[in-house]
Amino acid sequence: MKNIIPIHEPAFFGNEKKYINSCITQGWVSTSGKFINLFEKKICKITKSKYALATNSCTSSLFLSLMLAGVKPNDEVIISNITFISPINTILYNRAFPVFMDCDETLNIDIDKTITFLKFETFTKKINNKTITFNKKTNRKITAIIVVHTFGNPANILPLIQICKKKNIKVIEDAAESLGSYINTKNKKKHLGILGDYGCLSFNGNKIVTSGGGGVVLINNKKIYERLLHIASQSKIDSVNFKHDTIGYNLRINNIQAALGLAQLENLSLFLSRKREIHLLYKKLFSNSENFMLLSDTLGNSNNWINILKFNNKKIKKDIIFKKFQMNFIQTRSIWYPNNNQSFLKKFQSYKISLSKKIFDSTVCLPSSYTLKNKQIKIISNTLLNIEK
Ligand SMILES: Cc1ncc(COP(=O)(O)O)c(C=O)c1O
Repeated sequence: MKNIIPIHEPAFFGNEKKYINSCITQGWVSTSGKFINLFEKKICKITKSKYALATNSCTSSLFLSLMLAGVKPNDEVIISNITFISPINTILYNRAFPVFMDCDETLNIDIDKTITFLKFETFTKKINNKTITFNKKTNRKITAIIVVHTFGNPANILPLIQICKKKNIKVIEDAAESLGSYINTKNKKKHLGILGDYGCLSFNGNKIVTSGGGGVVLINNKKIYERLLHIASQSKIDSVNFKHDTIGYNLRINNIQAALGLAQLENLSLFLSRKREIHLLYKKLFSNSENFMLLSDTLGNSNNWINILKFNNKKIKKDIIFKKFQMNFIQTRSIWYPNNNQSFLKKFQSYKISLSKKIFDSTVCLPSSYTLKNKQIKIISNTLLNIEK
């Protein structure tokens, strides 16, 4: 049988086995051990975040960030309509309400519409000397916004941060897919995830580097970091007598995951440079096509985690692409189904959503692994360009 070209597979060629073996031989296999600290330090070095708290998944990181951002039951959290379900679930875990915003042509949250919503569809009150923002339609408090940087491409977050500051809305960056992605700010490039109040990264097996499973919260405030650490490790205040001061969670990364993640991070620059080459080759191969176009980041430097192909869906149908790919042993997938159309989420507010479905119907994800060969990229692009003929 022919080998499938996977959409994204991990690559292990560094110190992964050595570090994992060391966990096993030394017996440090759970949520303590030197690799956790080394992994967090390395993340701080890469992202220039003051603190990094490693968790067992980005979903856990988002859940904790919302909690620490002060999201309470019945509050609202603004979120893009085009994103993986995880950040929406974490809003629901906190018993808050998502408010869905449209995406733009970059697949990221539509910043203009979101700012219009914040300017005209909300009001603020001073309560105990604090500015609180409420949704005019529901009268619920809007406590936070989650900005997802989709597929490694930066969302234009800076104007949104400005208005959220004025309205005292916490900004949580879901940078799950964006390790190694930057945005240009006035003076310098900044790593995604350090611009808002909280930044969350994922180290799931399909990400640019993996710890098997794992996440990180990036944070610049020492007190919040300490609080995050406390709550993520069972809120223990006395480890001899096992006293706890509040509800706690078991959400820390373990030493084996951190060991794997650290070994992968040591090769991040190699992953990034091959990803860039893959992106540029795809871009070149589609450059003369009338119906296909590669989504390219214009705001900064993407890590090119997964390449997104846009196509003219009046002429080319997604089903045909899927069929041709299947015949040629090429794995693919849609981007995420618009969340305002998910059956269990229809009851939540969505604001002027008009583009999400069209984007869903006219995009697919292309194989983008570090291990992908140029020869395979040509097979993939020829398979698509042949549909056009
Ligand atoms: C945008 C986005 N947010 C959150 C997550 C959740 O990450 P994890 O699988 O580490 O919980 C993912 C993961 O795959 C993601 O793509």
